[in-house]
Amino acid sequence: MLCDRLIIRPSRPEDQSAILSVERKAFGRAHEARLVDQLIPAPQYTISLVAECDGRIIGHVLLTEIGAPVKALALAPLAVSAEYREMQVGSRLVRAAIEMAKADGFEAIFVLGDVLYYERFGFSGKLADPFSVRWQGRHFMALELKNGVLKGRRGKLEYPEPFLR
Ligand SMILES: CC(C)(COP(=O)(O)OP(=O)(O)OC[C@H]1O[C@@H](n2cnc3c(N)ncnc32)[C@H](O)[C@@H]1OP(=O)(O)O)[C@@H](O)C(=O)NCCC(=O)NCCS
Repeated sequence: MLCDRLIIRPSRPEDQSAILSVERKAFGRAHEARLVDQLIPAPQYTISLVAECDGRIIGHVLLTEIGAPVKALALAPLAVSAEYREMQVGSRLVRAAIEMAKADGFEAIFVLGDVLYYERFGFSGKLADPFSVRWQGRHFMALELKNGVLKGRRGKLEYPEPFLR
């Protein structure tokens, strides 16, 4: 399905129910929608971007600040409506979020996700290995927003409470 006009923009409070619907349908379960519902109004800093196709929300990405040895965000979740996949919508959301995070002075982004998908943006499992989280493993990756910023660093990452439920 093609869009005449696809824009990536920060989400607004009135987008919330459309965002939750995209998340719920994309994952086929309620968990990620619940996470978004709890994180967007959370006290932590967030980047929440939507993809809007001819006025309809078809994708969403959320990044939330986490406690880490560097100024860092967790990317989760990322969702694109099934009819609009494989059209670079997810990639545009991730790339826009990375640029926004850089502009806001963040130094790294952590993600738990598909290795092949996230490697294309520069995420690497090796970079994330020295950092401890409950969901350690090969799907846990990191991206440096400043070259070398994670080198020699290690430690526990503190995720906001909704991630731990
Ligand atoms: C994963 C998801 C966000 C990708 O969105 P999308 O808009 O289809 O992705 P893009 O069009 O930007 O894909 C870019 C590339 O990644 C590939 N790709 C897409 N989904 C992928 C996946 N799950 N694993 C590996 N590669 C994937 C595409 O084939 C495409 O490859 P190409 O550039 O070589 O043609 C979407 O499939 C989705 O919402 N899935 C359900 C929810 C989910 O799993 N979210 C991710 C949680 S980490």
